[in-house]
Amino acid sequence: MSRARVAVLISGRGSNMTALVEAARAPDCPFEVVLVLSNKPDAEGLQLASDAGVPTLAIDHRPFGADREAHERALDAALRDAGAEYVALAGYMRVLTPFLVEAWAGRMINIHPSLLPKYPGLDTHRRAIDAGDAEAGCSVHLVTTGVDEGPILDQARVPVLAGDTPEALAARVLEAEHRLYPMALARLVVR
Ligand code: GRF
Repeated sequence: MSRARVAVLISGRGSNMTALVEAARAPDCPFEVVLVLSNKPDAEGLQLASDAGVPTLAIDHRPFGADREAHERALDAALRDAGAEYVALAGYMRVLTPFLVEAWAGRMINIHPSLLPKYPGLDTHRRAIDAGDAEAGCSVHLVTTGVDEGPILDQARVPVLAGDTPEALAARVLEAEHRLYPMALARLVVR
């Protein structure tokens, strides 16, 4: 079976990236992770990926200054060098320009910690608690130029419990993220 070649873009701790790498260990998983790429050279996830035997690369955005597209051209070249067919954003904390979004249209996905279209952007768990929501969750969506706005591929729901803090809710949602992301990616690459 030839497996879809996936690159994962991170900026930080990389727990969703790790969930994808672990899922790809299963012999019947339809994707493999061929590169973990970070805009932050000190991202914790880079070490986790390299400990797991996955090729890693950091392309620091800072030397590119305000030229976001130039940074993305460097990312795009690295993705193509790695032979990536799909890109999974996993805690990648930079807003993308139309250049990278269009280059990977239909083949770039993101995981977001809310039930989109509710709560795009940051601080999703606090916003769900403050709104009195009974349910929270996470969404996997195709990346388009609007932040957290692309077509939703899959969602997972968790309850909001009485007395929840944003941290407690975030931990519950994160467990759901780790189950949802590999499943959603697998579904995308086989369809
Ligand atoms: C996750 O909550 C993800 O949904 C959001 O950023 C966080 C990244 O966490 N986009 P990690 O780096 O995968 O641990």
